[in-house]
Amino acid sequence: MYIIKLNAIDSTNSYLKDLVSAATQKDYTVVVAETQTKGRGQMGSQWQTECGKNLTASVFKRILSGKISDQFYISMVVALSIYKALRAFEIPKLSIKWPNDILSANTKLCGVLIENVIKSNHLQGSIIGFGLNVNQKTFTNLPQASSMQLVTGNTYNKDEVLSEILTQLERYFNLFELNYFDEIKSEYESLLFRKDKPSTFQTLNNQNFTGIIKGVTETGLLKVWTEDDIIKTFDLKEIKLLY
Ligand code: BTN
Repeated sequence: MYIIKLNAIDSTNSYLKDLVSAATQKDYTVVVAETQTKGRGQMGSQWQTECGKNLTASVFKRILSGKISDQFYISMVVALSIYKALRAFEIPKLSIKWPNDILSANTKLCGVLIENVIKSNHLQGSIIGFGLNVNQKTFTNLPQASSMQLVTGNTYNKDEVLSEILTQLERYFNLFELNYFDEIKSEYESLLFRKDKPSTFQTLNNQNFTGIIKGVTETGLLKVWTEDDIIKTFDLKEIKLLY
């Protein structure tokens, strides 16, 4: 484990991407920053964080003889690891919102951005970026966001939280490397936000429909049991879970 601590950087993911050459970089090289000037979120969004309050970090993990089809398993491994770390800090009402947001009740504590290093159709490594709201107390214009501190009233030591996340990442990546795929997928599915509950979704052309989340496919599509009594699958660009 090798941790690089920075004060400010554009994005820890971009910094780590420039640093790694997958063939040589050691596993669990970590970059942590107090703040990011161009933090990146999923689907081209921005990720904002209050300087010094939260964990904004990226971890490099080499994927041995990786297949492209492993990508969603890596995403599940990361979500499970952060979930388990937050559980160790007794954060209540945790769940994983597909594909890999970590929620407490219906507020978001952590977002994940994984960028893969792929060469000639093989997955060589992953840059696992996460933004975990730890001690931030106010979120302007982000009604769905919250932090560990807001949820429990306690202040947390960011180094301890990072260390627990790294411990869990090592544990779950070991399972992944030992091919415990079914176990990883079923544990992930058991922790999904709104699983087996009637929910409302919005399609790309702003149409709402109701359905029940039943799980995920191995490639990361969400399985929804719709009112026409069939299970349909959707990717992240196709639908948004409203409530
Ligand atoms: C999301 O949209 O929910 C994903 C947010 C991911 C943010 C983290 S913060 C550390 C790392 N560096 C980035 O630029 N983004 C990720």
